[in-house]
Amino acid sequence: MTETLPAAPQLFDDLLSDAAIQTPTEFYNRLREQDPVHWNPRWNGWIVTGYRDVIAGFRDHERLSSDRFAGPFAKDMAGSGSRYQQLIDFMSHWMFTKDRPYHTHLRSLVNTAFTPRSVEVLRPRIRQLVASLADSLRGRDRVNFMAEFAFTLPVVVIAEYLGIPPESRENLRAWSEDLGAVVFFQGGNQDRFDTGGQAMQHLAELIRPIVRDRATNPREDLISGMVHAELDGDRFEEDEIISNVVLMVFAGHETTMNLIANGIVAFDRFPGEWERLAGDPGLARTAVEEVLRYDGPIRALARWAKEPFELGGRQIEKNHRILLVQHAANHDPAFFAHPGHFDIGRWPNKHLAFGQGIHTCVGAPLARLEAQEAFAYLAREFASVEVLTRELRYGRNLVSRSLSGLDARLHDR
Ligand code: HEM
Repeated sequence: MTETLPAAPQLFDDLLSDAAIQTPTEFYNRLREQDPVHWNPRWNGWIVTGYRDVIAGFRDHERLSSDRFAGPFAKDMAGSGSRYQQLIDFMSHWMFTKDRPYHTHLRSLVNTAFTPRSVEVLRPRIRQLVASLADSLRGRDRVNFMAEFAFTLPVVVIAEYLGIPPESRENLRAWSEDLGAVVFFQGGNQDRFDTGGQAMQHLAELIRPIVRDRATNPREDLISGMVHAELDGDRFEEDEIISNVVLMVFAGHETTMNLIANGIVAFDRFPGEWERLAGDPGLARTAVEEVLRYDGPIRALARWAKEPFELGGRQIEKNHRILLVQHAANHDPAFFAHPGHFDIGRWPNKHLAFGQGIHTCVGAPLARLEAQEAFAYLAREFASVEVLTRELRYGRNLVSRSLSGLDARLHDR
Protein backbone atom coordinates (compact mmCIF):
# COMPACT_ATOMS: atom_id res chain seq x y z
CA MET A 1 0.00 0.00 0.00
CA THR A 2 2.86 2.39 0.72
CA GLU A 3 3.39 3.33 -2.94
CA THR A 4 -0.14 4.82 -3.04
CA LEU A 5 0.79 7.28 -0.30
CA PRO A 6 1.29 10.95 -1.10
CA ALA A 7 4.80 12.38 -1.26
CA ALA A 8 4.18 16.12 -1.07
CA PRO A 9 2.27 17.96 1.68
CA GLN A 10 -0.49 19.18 -0.64
CA LEU A 11 -1.27 15.58 -1.52
CA PHE A 12 -2.33 14.96 2.05
CA ASP A 13 -5.45 17.01 1.54
CA ASP A 14 -7.95 14.23 1.05
CA LEU A 15 -8.45 12.92 4.56
CA LEU A 16 -11.14 10.55 3.28
CA SER A 17 -8.90 8.98 0.63
CA ASP A 18 -8.30 5.22 0.69
CA ALA A 19 -4.77 5.81 1.96
CA ALA A 20 -5.96 7.95 4.91
CA ILE A 21 -8.84 5.65 5.83
CA GLN A 22 -7.46 2.19 5.17
CA THR A 23 -3.81 2.75 6.13
CA PRO A 24 -3.85 5.71 8.53
CA THR A 25 -0.60 4.76 10.25
CA GLU A 26 1.46 5.11 7.07
CA PHE A 27 -0.52 8.13 5.87
CA TYR A 28 -0.22 10.12 9.09
CA ASN A 29 3.34 8.98 9.80
CA ARG A 30 4.36 10.50 6.53
CA LEU A 31 2.40 13.67 7.19
CA ARG A 32 3.99 14.00 10.66
CA GLU A 33 7.45 13.59 9.14
CA GLN A 34 6.82 16.22 6.45
CA ASP A 35 4.55 18.77 8.08
CA PRO A 36 3.47 18.00 11.66
CA VAL A 37 1.09 20.98 11.90
CA HIS A 38 -0.34 20.98 8.40
CA TRP A 39 -2.82 23.41 6.85
CA ASN A 40 -5.44 21.40 4.95
CA PRO A 41 -7.41 23.64 2.56
CA ARG A 42 -9.99 20.98 1.81
CA TRP A 43 -10.97 20.49 5.45
CA ASN A 44 -10.21 24.15 5.97
CA GLY A 45 -8.17 23.62 9.10
CA TRP A 46 -4.95 22.40 10.71
CA ILE A 47 -4.05 18.73 10.93
CA VAL A 48 -1.90 18.06 13.99
CA THR A 49 0.04 14.78 14.10
CA GLY A 50 2.98 15.03 16.59
CA TYR A 51 2.45 13.65 20.12
CA ARG A 52 3.61 16.81 21.87
CA ASP A 53 1.32 19.07 19.81
CA VAL A 54 -1.71 16.76 20.02
CA ILE A 55 -1.51 16.52 23.81
CA ALA A 56 -0.99 20.29 24.05
CA GLY A 57 -4.14 20.77 21.96
CA PHE A 58 -6.22 18.48 24.17
CA ARG A 59 -5.07 20.26 27.33
CA ASP A 60 -5.50 23.81 26.09
CA HIS A 61 -9.03 24.59 27.21
CA GLU A 62 -8.37 28.32 27.32
CA ARG A 63 -7.65 28.71 23.63
CA LEU A 64 -9.25 25.67 22.03
CA SER A 65 -12.98 25.01 22.07
CA SER A 66 -14.92 21.75 21.76
CA ASP A 67 -18.19 23.57 21.11
CA ARG A 68 -19.59 22.10 17.88
CA PHE A 69 -22.35 24.69 17.79
CA ALA A 70 -20.16 27.79 17.84
CA GLY A 71 -17.22 29.27 15.94
CA PRO A 72 -16.45 27.67 12.55
CA PHE A 73 -18.67 24.65 13.28
CA ALA A 74 -21.78 26.78 13.84
CA LYS A 75 -22.41 27.20 10.13
CA ASP A 76 -22.22 23.43 9.48
CA MET A 77 -25.09 23.00 11.86
CA ALA A 78 -26.94 26.16 10.87
CA GLY A 79 -26.82 25.01 7.23
CA SER A 80 -28.99 22.11 8.23
CA GLY A 81 -31.67 24.56 9.38
CA SER A 82 -34.62 24.20 11.68
CA ARG A 83 -35.56 20.91 10.01
CA TYR A 84 -33.02 19.29 12.26
CA GLN A 85 -33.70 21.45 15.27
CA GLN A 86 -34.54 18.52 17.53
CA LEU A 87 -31.27 16.78 16.65
CA ILE A 88 -29.33 19.97 17.25
CA ASP A 89 -31.14 20.69 20.54
CA PHE A 90 -30.29 17.25 21.87
CA MET A 91 -26.70 17.26 20.65
CA SER A 92 -26.19 20.69 22.16
CA HIS A 93 -26.42 19.05 25.63
CA TRP A 94 -23.78 16.43 24.83
CA MET A 95 -20.97 17.02 27.25
CA PHE A 96 -18.16 16.40 24.78
CA THR A 97 -19.43 19.24 22.56
CA LYS A 98 -19.34 21.78 25.41
CA ASP A 99 -16.76 24.04 27.04
CA ARG A 100 -16.49 25.08 30.66
CA PRO A 101 -18.50 25.98 32.71
CA TYR A 102 -21.49 24.13 31.14
CA HIS A 103 -19.30 21.11 30.53
CA THR A 104 -18.41 20.89 34.25
CA HIS A 105 -22.11 20.95 35.10
CA LEU A 106 -22.93 18.11 32.69
CA ARG A 107 -19.89 16.02 33.56
CA SER A 108 -20.88 16.09 37.23
CA LEU A 109 -23.93 14.04 36.20
CA VAL A 110 -21.89 10.95 35.41
CA ASN A 111 -18.48 11.43 36.99
CA THR A 112 -18.94 8.96 39.83
CA ALA A 113 -20.80 6.32 37.82
CA PHE A 114 -17.81 5.23 35.74
CA THR A 115 -14.88 5.22 38.15
CA PRO A 116 -12.86 2.00 38.19
CA ARG A 117 -14.48 1.18 41.55
CA SER A 118 -18.05 1.78 40.34
CA VAL A 119 -17.65 -0.35 37.25
CA GLU A 120 -15.81 -3.14 39.09
CA VAL A 121 -19.20 -4.44 40.31
CA LEU A 122 -19.95 -5.29 36.67
CA ARG A 123 -16.97 -7.64 36.35
CA PRO A 124 -18.76 -10.91 37.20
CA ARG A 125 -21.57 -10.16 34.76
CA ILE A 126 -19.10 -9.14 32.04
CA ARG A 127 -17.10 -12.32 32.64
CA GLN A 128 -20.26 -14.41 32.30
CA LEU A 129 -21.30 -12.62 29.10
CA VAL A 130 -17.84 -13.00 27.57
CA ALA A 131 -17.85 -16.73 28.29
CA SER A 132 -21.30 -17.35 26.83
CA LEU A 133 -20.66 -15.27 23.70
CA ALA A 134 -17.21 -16.83 23.16
CA ASP A 135 -18.50 -20.34 23.67
CA SER A 136 -21.04 -19.84 20.90
CA LEU A 137 -18.12 -19.18 18.50
CA ARG A 138 -16.42 -22.48 19.30
CA GLY A 139 -15.89 -25.11 16.61
CA ARG A 140 -17.24 -22.97 13.78
CA ASP A 141 -15.44 -22.43 10.47
CA ARG A 142 -16.52 -18.83 10.12
CA VAL A 143 -18.18 -16.42 12.55
CA ASN A 144 -19.40 -12.89 12.12
CA PHE A 145 -17.16 -11.68 14.92
CA MET A 146 -18.36 -8.10 14.70
CA ALA A 147 -22.04 -8.89 15.18
CA GLU A 148 -21.76 -11.96 17.36
CA PHE A 149 -19.15 -10.78 19.83
CA ALA A 150 -17.65 -7.30 19.39
CA PHE A 151 -21.04 -5.55 19.15
CA THR A 152 -23.05 -7.74 21.49
CA LEU A 153 -20.81 -7.58 24.54
CA PRO A 154 -20.66 -3.78 24.95
CA VAL A 155 -24.25 -3.17 23.90
CA VAL A 156 -25.62 -5.61 26.47
CA VAL A 157 -23.32 -4.22 29.17
CA ILE A 158 -24.21 -0.56 28.61
CA ALA A 159 -27.91 -1.30 28.11
CA GLU A 160 -28.06 -3.28 31.37
CA TYR A 161 -26.09 -0.61 33.21
CA LEU A 162 -28.49 2.04 31.98
CA GLY A 163 -31.61 -0.09 32.50
CA ILE A 164 -32.65 -0.29 28.81
CA PRO A 165 -34.99 -3.25 28.24
CA PRO A 166 -33.59 -6.19 26.22
CA GLU A 167 -36.19 -5.96 23.42
CA SER A 168 -34.95 -2.46 22.50
CA ARG A 169 -31.31 -3.42 22.09
CA GLU A 170 -31.46 -4.76 18.54
CA ASN A 171 -32.10 -1.32 17.08
CA LEU A 172 -29.32 0.37 18.97
CA ARG A 173 -26.66 -0.52 16.43
CA ALA A 174 -28.53 0.95 13.45
CA TRP A 175 -29.45 4.11 15.35
CA SER A 176 -25.90 4.53 16.60
CA GLU A 177 -24.54 4.17 13.09
CA ASP A 178 -26.90 6.89 11.87
CA LEU A 179 -25.91 9.19 14.70
CA GLY A 180 -22.26 8.37 14.06
CA ALA A 181 -22.58 9.65 10.50
CA VAL A 182 -23.40 13.10 11.93
CA VAL A 183 -20.88 13.05 14.76
CA PHE A 184 -17.94 11.60 12.80
CA PHE A 185 -18.17 13.90 9.72
CA GLN A 186 -18.94 10.99 7.40
CA GLY A 187 -18.00 11.56 3.79
CA GLY A 188 -20.31 10.91 0.84
CA ASN A 189 -23.45 10.76 2.95
CA GLN A 190 -25.63 13.75 2.19
CA ASP A 191 -28.63 12.33 4.04
CA ARG A 192 -26.78 12.02 7.30
CA PHE A 193 -28.72 14.81 9.05
CA ASP A 194 -32.03 13.17 8.07
CA THR A 195 -31.14 9.70 9.27
CA GLY A 196 -29.24 11.08 12.29
CA GLY A 197 -32.29 13.16 13.26
CA GLN A 198 -34.57 10.13 13.05
CA ALA A 199 -32.14 8.03 15.06
CA MET A 200 -31.98 10.69 17.77
CA GLN A 201 -35.77 10.79 17.90
CA HIS A 202 -35.99 6.99 18.30
CA LEU A 203 -33.35 6.99 21.01
CA ALA A 204 -35.00 9.86 22.89
CA GLU A 205 -38.36 8.03 22.72
CA LEU A 206 -36.69 4.96 24.13
CA ILE A 207 -34.98 6.78 26.99
CA ARG A 208 -37.67 9.31 27.99
CA PRO A 209 -40.08 6.83 29.65
CA ILE A 210 -37.18 5.30 31.59
CA VAL A 211 -36.15 8.75 32.84
CA ARG A 212 -39.75 9.56 33.85
CA ASP A 213 -40.15 6.21 35.57
CA ARG A 214 -36.95 6.70 37.59
CA ALA A 215 -38.15 10.12 38.71
CA THR A 216 -40.97 8.46 40.68
CA ASN A 217 -39.51 4.95 41.16
CA PRO A 218 -35.79 5.38 41.76
CA ARG A 219 -33.64 2.24 41.49
CA GLU A 220 -29.99 1.46 42.03
CA ASP A 221 -29.10 2.39 38.47
CA LEU A 222 -27.29 5.12 36.59
CA ILE A 223 -30.36 6.85 35.19
CA SER A 224 -31.93 7.09 38.66
CA GLY A 225 -28.68 8.63 39.86
CA MET A 226 -28.79 11.20 37.05
CA VAL A 227 -32.48 12.04 37.58
CA HIS A 228 -31.97 12.64 41.29
CA ALA A 229 -28.56 14.33 41.03
CA GLU A 230 -28.42 17.88 42.28
CA LEU A 231 -25.91 20.60 41.59
CA ASP A 232 -25.99 23.55 43.96
CA GLY A 233 -29.54 22.57 44.89
CA ASP A 234 -30.74 22.37 41.25
CA ARG A 235 -31.87 19.27 39.39
CA PHE A 236 -30.85 18.63 35.77
CA GLU A 237 -33.44 19.19 33.06
CA GLU A 238 -35.11 16.16 31.54
CA ASP A 239 -33.66 16.84 28.07
CA GLU A 240 -30.14 17.27 29.48
CA ILE A 241 -30.44 13.84 31.06
CA ILE A 242 -31.98 12.14 28.02
CA SER A 243 -29.43 13.63 25.70
CA ASN A 244 -26.47 12.47 27.80
CA VAL A 245 -27.96 9.01 28.28
CA VAL A 246 -28.19 8.80 24.47
CA LEU A 247 -24.53 9.87 24.35
CA MET A 248 -23.56 7.06 26.70
CA VAL A 249 -25.54 4.48 24.76
CA PHE A 250 -23.81 5.63 21.59
CA ALA A 251 -20.30 6.24 22.99
CA GLY A 252 -20.59 3.25 25.30
CA HIS A 253 -20.82 0.54 22.70
CA GLU A 254 -19.68 1.87 19.32
CA THR A 255 -16.14 2.57 20.52
CA THR A 256 -15.79 -0.52 22.69
CA MET A 257 -16.98 -2.67 19.78
CA ASN A 258 -14.22 -1.19 17.63
CA LEU A 259 -11.63 -1.67 20.37
CA ILE A 260 -12.40 -5.39 20.52
CA ALA A 261 -12.55 -5.79 16.72
CA ASN A 262 -9.37 -3.79 16.09
CA GLY A 263 -7.64 -5.85 18.77
CA ILE A 264 -8.55 -9.09 16.99
CA VAL A 265 -7.06 -7.73 13.76
CA ALA A 266 -3.85 -6.78 15.61
CA PHE A 267 -3.57 -10.22 17.22
CA ASP A 268 -4.09 -11.85 13.83
CA ARG A 269 -1.15 -9.83 12.51
CA PHE A 270 1.02 -10.59 15.55
CA PRO A 271 0.11 -14.19 16.48
CA GLY A 272 3.04 -14.43 18.91
CA GLU A 273 1.31 -11.82 21.11
CA TRP A 274 -1.81 -14.03 21.33
CA GLU A 275 0.31 -16.89 22.67
CA ARG A 276 2.02 -14.51 25.06
CA LEU A 277 -1.34 -13.41 26.48
CA ALA A 278 -2.59 -16.99 26.73
CA GLY A 279 0.52 -17.88 28.72
CA ASP A 280 0.20 -14.88 31.03
CA PRO A 281 -3.39 -13.59 31.41
CA GLY A 282 -2.04 -10.91 33.74
CA LEU A 283 -0.92 -9.15 30.54
CA ALA A 284 -4.56 -8.40 29.65
CA ARG A 285 -4.31 -4.90 31.19
CA THR A 286 -1.28 -3.81 29.18
CA ALA A 287 -2.57 -5.64 26.10
CA VAL A 288 -5.72 -3.50 26.07
CA GLU A 289 -3.63 -0.32 26.41
CA GLU A 290 -1.54 -1.49 23.47
CA VAL A 291 -4.61 -2.11 21.28
CA LEU A 292 -5.79 1.40 22.18
CA ARG A 293 -2.43 2.82 21.16
CA TYR A 294 -1.78 0.68 18.11
CA ASP A 295 -5.24 0.94 16.52
CA GLY A 296 -7.62 2.79 18.84
CA PRO A 297 -11.30 3.34 17.98
CA ILE A 298 -11.03 7.15 17.76
CA ARG A 299 -8.56 8.32 15.14
CA ALA A 300 -8.90 12.08 15.57
CA LEU A 301 -10.99 14.81 17.22
CA ALA A 302 -11.73 18.36 16.21
CA ARG A 303 -11.38 21.65 18.09
CA TRP A 304 -11.39 25.33 17.06
CA ALA A 305 -9.30 28.30 18.15
CA LYS A 306 -10.99 30.90 20.34
CA GLU A 307 -7.97 33.18 19.95
CA PRO A 308 -4.75 33.29 17.91
CA PHE A 309 -1.83 31.21 19.22
CA GLU A 310 1.20 29.27 18.09
CA LEU A 311 1.29 25.50 17.84
CA GLY A 312 4.33 23.55 16.67
CA GLY A 313 5.80 26.70 15.10
CA ARG A 314 2.63 27.54 13.15
CA GLN A 315 0.45 30.57 13.68
CA ILE A 316 -3.14 29.47 14.34
CA GLU A 317 -5.72 32.20 13.83
CA LYS A 318 -8.98 32.79 15.68
CA ASN A 319 -11.78 30.51 14.38
CA HIS A 320 -9.39 28.11 12.68
CA ARG A 321 -10.34 24.44 12.95
CA ILE A 322 -7.82 21.99 14.38
CA LEU A 323 -7.86 18.23 13.96
CA LEU A 324 -5.93 16.47 16.72
CA VAL A 325 -4.92 13.14 15.22
CA GLN A 326 -4.57 10.75 18.15
CA HIS A 327 -3.72 7.83 15.89
CA ALA A 328 -0.68 9.74 14.60
CA ALA A 329 0.38 10.83 18.09
CA ASN A 330 0.15 7.23 19.25
CA HIS A 331 2.61 6.23 16.52
CA ASP A 332 5.06 9.08 17.09
CA PRO A 333 8.55 7.53 17.33
CA ALA A 334 9.66 10.47 19.47
CA PHE A 335 7.39 9.04 22.20
CA PHE A 336 6.98 5.34 21.53
CA ALA A 337 9.86 2.98 20.77
CA HIS A 338 9.11 0.89 17.66
CA PRO A 339 5.58 2.31 17.36
CA GLY A 340 4.69 0.01 14.46
CA HIS A 341 5.24 -3.02 16.66
CA PHE A 342 2.28 -4.38 18.60
CA ASP A 343 3.79 -5.25 21.98
CA ILE A 344 1.21 -6.29 24.57
CA GLY A 345 3.67 -5.82 27.42
CA ARG A 346 4.44 -2.19 26.50
CA TRP A 347 4.71 -0.08 29.65
CA PRO A 348 4.48 2.81 30.27
CA ASN A 349 1.99 3.42 27.48
CA LYS A 350 0.76 6.99 27.59
CA HIS A 351 -1.42 6.76 24.50
CA LEU A 352 -4.03 9.40 23.75
CA ALA A 353 -6.83 7.04 22.70
CA PHE A 354 -9.13 8.37 25.44
CA GLY A 355 -8.16 12.02 24.87
CA GLN A 356 -6.76 14.28 27.59
CA GLY A 357 -7.89 17.17 29.75
CA ILE A 358 -11.43 17.89 30.92
CA HIS A 359 -13.07 15.74 28.23
CA THR A 360 -10.96 12.62 28.89
CA CYS A 361 -13.27 9.69 28.25
CA VAL A 362 -15.53 9.15 31.23
CA GLY A 363 -16.29 5.57 30.17
CA ALA A 364 -12.63 4.49 29.90
CA PRO A 365 -12.72 2.24 33.01
CA LEU A 366 -15.75 0.38 31.63
CA ALA A 367 -14.25 -0.02 28.13
CA ARG A 368 -10.99 -1.29 29.68
CA LEU A 369 -12.80 -3.78 31.88
CA GLU A 370 -14.80 -5.24 28.99
CA ALA A 371 -11.82 -5.52 26.67
CA GLN A 372 -9.55 -7.03 29.35
CA GLU A 373 -12.10 -9.70 30.14
CA ALA A 374 -12.71 -10.38 26.44
CA PHE A 375 -9.10 -10.76 25.33
CA ALA A 376 -8.04 -12.72 28.42
CA TYR A 377 -10.83 -15.26 27.95
CA LEU A 378 -10.47 -15.58 24.18
CA ALA A 379 -6.69 -16.08 24.34
CA ARG A 380 -7.04 -18.68 27.11
CA GLU A 381 -9.76 -20.65 25.32
CA PHE A 382 -8.67 -20.46 21.68
CA ALA A 383 -5.30 -21.42 20.19
CA SER A 384 -5.34 -18.63 17.62
CA VAL A 385 -7.52 -16.13 15.87
CA GLU A 386 -7.70 -15.94 12.10
CA VAL A 387 -9.25 -12.99 10.31
CA LEU A 388 -11.21 -14.30 7.31
CA THR A 389 -12.50 -11.04 5.83
CA ARG A 390 -10.31 -10.73 2.73
CA GLU A 391 -10.23 -6.98 2.47
CA LEU A 392 -10.90 -5.13 5.71
CA ARG A 393 -12.85 -1.91 5.08
CA TYR A 394 -12.92 0.98 7.53
CA GLY A 395 -15.66 3.62 7.81
CA ARG A 396 -15.03 6.67 5.62
CA ASN A 397 -15.09 9.41 8.23
CA LEU A 398 -12.61 11.66 10.01
CA VAL A 399 -13.06 10.46 13.54
CA SER A 400 -13.66 6.78 14.13
CA ARG A 401 -11.63 3.75 13.17
CA SER A 402 -14.43 1.30 12.64
CA LEU A 403 -14.51 -1.85 10.56
CA SER A 404 -17.55 -2.39 8.39
CA GLY A 405 -17.36 -6.12 9.11
CA LEU A 406 -15.07 -8.73 10.57
CA ASP A 407 -15.43 -12.45 9.89
CA ALA A 408 -13.04 -14.69 11.74
CA ARG A 409 -12.27 -18.19 12.85
CA LEU A 410 -11.23 -19.00 16.37
CA HIS A 411 -9.19 -22.19 16.43
CA ASP A 412 -9.75 -24.55 19.32
CA ARG A 413 -6.92 -25.32 21.69
C1 HEM B 1 -12.55 2.01 23.80
C2 HEM B 1 -13.62 2.66 24.02
C3 HEM B 1 -13.69 4.16 24.06
C4 HEM B 1 -12.89 5.10 23.45
C5 HEM B 1 -11.66 4.88 22.58
C6 HEM B 1 -13.41 6.40 23.82
C7 HEM B 1 -12.84 7.60 23.44
C8 HEM B 1 -13.23 8.83 23.92
C9 HEM B 1 -12.53 10.06 23.67
C10 HEM B 1 -11.28 10.20 22.85
C11 HEM B 1 -13.20 11.05 24.32
C12 HEM B 1 -12.82 12.53 24.37
C13 HEM B 1 -13.67 13.37 23.44
C14 HEM B 1 -13.09 14.76 23.25
O1 HEM B 1 -12.07 15.12 23.85
O2 HEM B 1 -13.68 15.52 22.44
C15 HEM B 1 -14.34 10.44 24.95
C16 HEM B 1 -15.28 11.11 25.69
C17 HEM B 1 -16.41 10.50 26.21
N1 HEM B 1 -16.67 9.15 26.28
FE1 HEM B 1 -15.54 7.68 25.55
N2 HEM B 1 -14.50 6.23 24.61
C18 HEM B 1 -14.71 4.88 24.79
C19 HEM B 1 -15.68 4.26 25.55
C20 HEM B 1 -16.67 4.93 26.22
C21 HEM B 1 -17.69 4.31 27.04
C22 HEM B 1 -17.79 2.81 27.36
C23 HEM B 1 -18.51 5.32 27.47
C24 HEM B 1 -19.75 5.30 28.33
C25 HEM B 1 -20.19 4.36 28.97
C26 HEM B 1 -17.98 6.56 26.95
C27 HEM B 1 -18.53 7.80 27.16
C28 HEM B 1 -17.89 8.98 26.88
C29 HEM B 1 -18.44 10.28 27.24
C30 HEM B 1 -19.77 10.54 27.94
C31 HEM B 1 -17.50 11.23 26.80
C32 HEM B 1 -17.59 12.75 26.96
C33 HEM B 1 -16.76 13.18 28.16
C34 HEM B 1 -16.67 14.68 28.31
O3 HEM B 1 -16.86 15.43 27.36
O4 HEM B 1 -16.39 15.10 29.44
N3 HEM B 1 -16.87 6.29 26.21
N4 HEM B 1 -14.33 9.08 24.71
